Amino acid sequence: MDISQTLSIGKRRYIGCKAKLAEWIMQVIESETNNIRSFCDIFAGTAIMSDFAIGKYDRVIINDFLYSNNIIYKAFYGKGEVDRKKISDYIEALNQIEPTQLDDNYFSVNYGDKFFDYQTAKKIGYIRDRIEDDKNIFTEKEYDVLISSLIYNIDKIANTLGHYEAYIKKEIKPHVLTMKMINYQSLDKVEIYREDANKLVRTIAADIFYVDPPYNSRQYSRFYHLYENLVKWDKPILSGLAMKPAEENMSEYCSSRAAKAFEDLVMNLNTKFIAVSYNNTYHSKSSSSRNKISLEQINEILSKRGHTKMFEHSHQFFNAGKTDFNNHKELLFITKINEK
Ligand SMILES: C[S@@+](CC[C@H](N)C(=O)[O-])C[C@H]1O[C@@H](n2cnc3c(N)ncnc32)[C@H](O)[C@@H]1O
Repeated sequence: MDISQTLSIGKRRYIGCKAKLAEWIMQVIESETNNIRSFCDIFAGTAIMSDFAIGKYDRVIINDFLYSNNIIYKAFYGKGEVDRKKISDYIEALNQIEPTQLDDNYFSVNYGDKFFDYQTAKKIGYIRDRIEDDKNIFTEKEYDVLISSLIYNIDKIANTLGHYEAYIKKEIKPHVLTMKMINYQSLDKVEIYREDANKLVRTIAADIFYVDPPYNSRQYSRFYHLYENLVKWDKPILSGLAMKPAEENMSEYCSSRAAKAFEDLVMNLNTKFIAVSYNNTYHSKSSSSRNKISLEQINEILSKRGHTKMFEHSHQFFNAGKTDFNNHKELLFITKINEK
């Protein structure tokens, strides 16, 4: 079995991921800015925009407050040593494990026959326990690569529509989990944080900030609770149909305080340019899909920092299928900061 590096950072299902728009966003940024050497992806999600920025700029700052996103950034880009042969042999051995021979475990008891078929859930739980038990034989980077590889591989077989708010309520087709390794690098130019964006911007500077917060009431920490749990691995009691842990990392941007949070962020950016992604779901019929910040508010707030232009790209996006897609656009605002 060839487990050579085939999983790139964009090969992941994530709500609001800009993979399909990244090239267009970078083109607009390149044509509307000058003298950019450092780029900050302050709500990085999958970090696909950072991935593009790494190819262009001297310094890239990546931030998101989710534990699972953070370990993924460290695994793909963080500085550190990986003994490739050791890790690939280790994954190879994990792939050989026959789940029917395994006992029940935390992961299978909670998620089996829900997000994964029962046997696969046993194998996932066993692999996660094994990595934790063997932690002392790995460098920090190797550990991050293993956990992130597990996330990327189980994402492909999860019985979901791409998030863990719910699972598909049909009989689950059994899968054989064979892991591949993620395509890791060790880069000096990348700085990684797991902080609240509004706090972090008060302490850092970059030539451009790319800003792509959540715009509706759907919390990412609830969508991706299963990965958060898998990364933290402190095995809390879970509840509800979707087997979620207690709330953590609930975003202000998903609340009625969103516009205030956005204004606070924008006013505190230490930068030359701001690029803001926005999709105009404001008038959506489903209340959880409806935007918490209006187009006018975005424009008004950004204009306080400098001359602001808006660019448009048509795009289909996640909204529970309740709204007519025709008049939905993906927008990009570029603000050139006023010199004092
Ligand atoms: C729309 S997604 C970003 C998608 C990203 N541009 C991509 O292409 O994958 C918004 C992200 O912001 C993060 N987030 C929400 N509130 C945050 C906060 N206050 N501080 C830091 N990250 C936050 C979420 O975890 C989520 O990953």
